[in-house]
Amino acid sequence: MTGTESACRRVLVTGAAGFIGYHLARRLLHEGLEVFGFDNFNDFYPVRLKRDRHAQLEPQAGYRWLGAELADRSALAEVFRSFEPDCVVHLAAQANVRHSLVDPYTFQRSNIEGFLNVLECCRHAARRPRLLYASSSSVYGARAQQPFSEAQRTDTPISLYAATKRANELMAHAYSQLYGIQAIGVRLFTVYGPWGRPDMAYWLFAEALRQGRPITLFNRGEMRRDFTYVDDAVEGLFRCVRAGGLGRYEIFNLGSGRAEPLTALVALLARELGVAQPALELRPLPDGDVEETCASIDRLRAAVGYEPVTTLDTGVPRFAAWFKEYQGL
Ligand SMILES: NC(=O)c1ccc[n+]([C@@H]2O[C@H](COP(=O)([O-])OP(=O)(O)OC[C@H]3O[C@@H](n4cnc5c(N)ncnc54)[C@H](O)[C@@H]3O)[C@@H](O)[C@H]2O)c1
Repeated sequence: MTGTESACRRVLVTGAAGFIGYHLARRLLHEGLEVFGFDNFNDFYPVRLKRDRHAQLEPQAGYRWLGAELADRSALAEVFRSFEPDCVVHLAAQANVRHSLVDPYTFQRSNIEGFLNVLECCRHAARRPRLLYASSSSVYGARAQQPFSEAQRTDTPISLYAATKRANELMAHAYSQLYGIQAIGVRLFTVYGPWGRPDMAYWLFAEALRQGRPITLFNRGEMRRDFTYVDDAVEGLFRCVRAGGLGRYEIFNLGSGRAEPLTALVALLARELGVAQPALELRPLPDGDVEETCASIDRLRAAVGYEPVTTLDTGVPRFAAWFKEYQGL
């Protein structure tokens, strides 16, 4: 350990069967840290994928886990009591902007009540852990300037998902002030890669290409996203777990720092999946969605030396290769 690193050895990862949680848990174990995974294995997308990810973590030395619900306060408190984490990486949440228009109460339960339970467990822990938690680029709403910087206002969310993530940042601020909990919020920007999420655009596009169906492109194809390859996201999170010298309350963007057109994603996926001329179905921008996201990553770079290395034309072939193998193509 260098003088600029924290002494963190035991990490509680909530959402460990999820896309980012699985990759982060693997990395932490690889680095020799002890990891406790917590996940309710809900069926928002196929549970088999969560089980398949998690099956790779279960046999690893240094890994323990519990299948339980964040809203179950006593189960969560017992994990804190028995494992005594010195860092909590809280990734379990109900994600997906559009789904928050359909099923708002799940967002209230997982993202508000669940987050409060995590805060309360941190507050009452014998040794207060560092809390690192996933926020989202969606907190910037539709009116922010590109690139999004942490100094911009974030009080005009346009989806309930975004509102719950912004609420998490505010709740974390209150708890850091009241109880001295070190709370680091990381605003993630469209993370993609192997073992990814079936509800996200890159997977939906790949699935449409595989089945020979048209790809639905919103805002008539005029959309740009800051796509973050999962290894870069994990590197940023890992650096936040280990870094010394962070403040008691921090907010960081974690993205690639580049906005890419969705049409570029489609072209790369089509090439990798062997579709010469993908059919497109152009639709208007749905409620809750924004035309463009692009992260300013200067703060995270300055704080922990974060530097994304994987561009879309490297990352998409890696996702596509995994997708084909997982689907048995
Ligand atoms: N993937 C992205 O592009 C992205 C972008 C911005 C923010 N985020 C945030 O990052 C975090 C991780 O995202 P992900 O892409 O890995 O999502 P994911 O859905 O794959 O992982 C979340 C995991 O949490 C679990 N979970 C959900 N609610 C729970 C509850 N109430 N109790 C216990 N477990 C619960 C789920 O079963 C799932 O395995 C989330 O907080 C998400 O909002 C992700």
